[in-house]
Amino acid sequence: MAQLLINGKTFMVDADPATPLLWVIRERLQLTGTKFGCGMAQCGACTIHLDGAAVRSCQTSLAQAAGKKITTIEGLHPKGEHPLQKAWIAEQVPQCGYCQSGQIMQAAALLAKNPNPTDEEIVAAMTGNICRCATYLRIKRAIKRAAREVSS
Ligand code: FES
Ligand code: FES
Repeated sequence: MAQLLINGKTFMVDADPATPLLWVIRERLQLTGTKFGCGMAQCGACTIHLDGAAVRSCQTSLAQAAGKKITTIEGLHPKGEHPLQKAWIAEQVPQCGYCQSGQIMQAAALLAKNPNPTDEEIVAAMTGNICRCATYLRIKRAIKRAAREVSS
């Protein structure tokens, strides 16, 4: 039995310690904002925060996550009003939307440690998050918009 602390709530999960955290989040706990893309740490759709760092939940085991502070897109802000979420709406970022929760979680980890990133730092931080709809320019604009709010 593993104890998970997700979005401020404690969950007891009875599963193999090697089970990917993504499966537990989506299938057991029905937190379906986190997406399954590749399952191989190649796309970023499954990005969540583990103790504040952006990680790929498809390649994080239940055992690795136990006892750590986990945040999913559902817990990023109590009302969905994180500066990035507001900026995403203002810039009309998503197309199909599938990659976007992972993009936002990746960007949120960046802004938490670097509230005013340069273009190069944004590109470097976001490079592992793939968008098949190629919304990259809008993603960058939204991150810069949110950064202005965070650092003002
Ligand atoms: S589903 Fe985890 S990186 Fe693609
Ligand atoms: S919005 Fe469609 S994959 Fe990114």
